[in-house]
Amino acid sequence: MKTYSIALIPGDGIGKDVISAAWQVLEKVAATAGFGLQPTSFPWSCAYYKETGAMMPVDGIETLRGFDAILLGAVGWPAEVPDSVSLHGLLLPIRKAFEQYANIRPHRLLPGVEGPLKARDFDILCIRENTEGEYSGAGGRVHQGTQNEVAVETSIFTRTGVERILRFGFEQARARRGKLASVTKSNAQKYSMVFWDEITARLAREYPDVTVTSYHIDAMAARMVMAPESLDVIVASNLFGDILTDLGAAIQGGLGFAASANLNPDRNAPSMFEPVHGSAPDIAHLGIANPIAAIWSGAMMLEHLGEKTAADAIMRAIAAATESGIGTVPGKDKTDTITHAVLNALA
Ligand code: NAD
Ligand code: IPM
Ligand code: MN
Repeated sequence: MKTYSIALIPGDGIGKDVISAAWQVLEKVAATAGFGLQPTSFPWSCAYYKETGAMMPVDGIETLRGFDAILLGAVGWPAEVPDSVSLHGLLLPIRKAFEQYANIRPHRLLPGVEGPLKARDFDILCIRENTEGEYSGAGGRVHQGTQNEVAVETSIFTRTGVERILRFGFEQARARRGKLASVTKSNAQKYSMVFWDEITARLAREYPDVTVTSYHIDAMAARMVMAPESLDVIVASNLFGDILTDLGAAIQGGLGFAASANLNPDRNAPSMFEPVHGSAPDIAHLGIANPIAAIWSGAMMLEHLGEKTAADAIMRAIAAATESGIGTVPGKDKTDTITHAVLNALA
């Protein structure tokens, strides 16, 4: 029997609840589909930081490298550990070290989910550059605490980085409805974003079957609310993609529905799957986190591993649960109720 080794990093807050839910669903679908999932759970989190002084051990990345995939809940507990420490100690280094350069985030309404818009008919795939750009980490502060203090944080856009994410976007558009929206702010940022637009225009000549339109980020934010059905694949830089995908989550009914895959398309290191949302400290101890985003992320993991039939079965079970009204209204159903509805629908 084929068995996949999966590193589980539940992390903080609701991350633990939603990973437990996703794992129950994954185990059940694997048992019926006839493949194995071998989990190894890592306690790396803000609690781990409080105990050890680090978000993960020094050899954490090397430990993860041997797995077929990583399933992560959420990282961050800002009341106790600054986000600038926790995220740069765990989540962001994994994305960079394993060159998970394509962060894929689907936005569409599940059956029975209303969403805040009248539009029902959208199906957007947001592709976010995930290793550089505004998240390069290059910068520093000098004269700290004085009136002369200076803070510099530099965005880094490399030809390799921009080309590969745009190419990925063109390929996805080609495989879907043939429309690519490339998002920049090249009217204001005249070096990096103009560079991105130029590469978009050059690659477009290689993909005559894809209709590509360049948008400014501000106009795209409005379009996602006013005319989401006009969009197919969106490709954006790291920060712009981050912001647009919380907007995408909102129009699909909330963060509890937004799934994501941090893909290493070259497959020379593990990819990581995680909901778009964070640790949600405001609801963390209430047992009402929606696990659907994490379960959907688990389905994306199975698809990446080549288990498309099992991934489709999970998506059908999620749809059956929401169609029956379970999990559709934020806060109405308990995490366990939603998880059991998905598990039952799998049967
Ligand atoms: P958040 O996504 O945790 O929460 C934003 C809002 O959405 C909250 O009101 C929360 O209750 C709600 N929400 C989120 N997920 C939900 C779910 N599954 N079901 C129901 N409601 C849900 O964002 P935040 O509050 O800005 O961040 C909290 C912490 O998480 C911070 O430390 C932040 O840095 C971190 N964070 C981590 C990740 C990640 O690990 N990928 C992503 C985003 C934020
Ligand atoms: C996300 C999150 C992270 C990001 C944070 C927690 C660093 O918001 O995955 O969307 O900005 O990438
Ligand atoms: Mn985000």
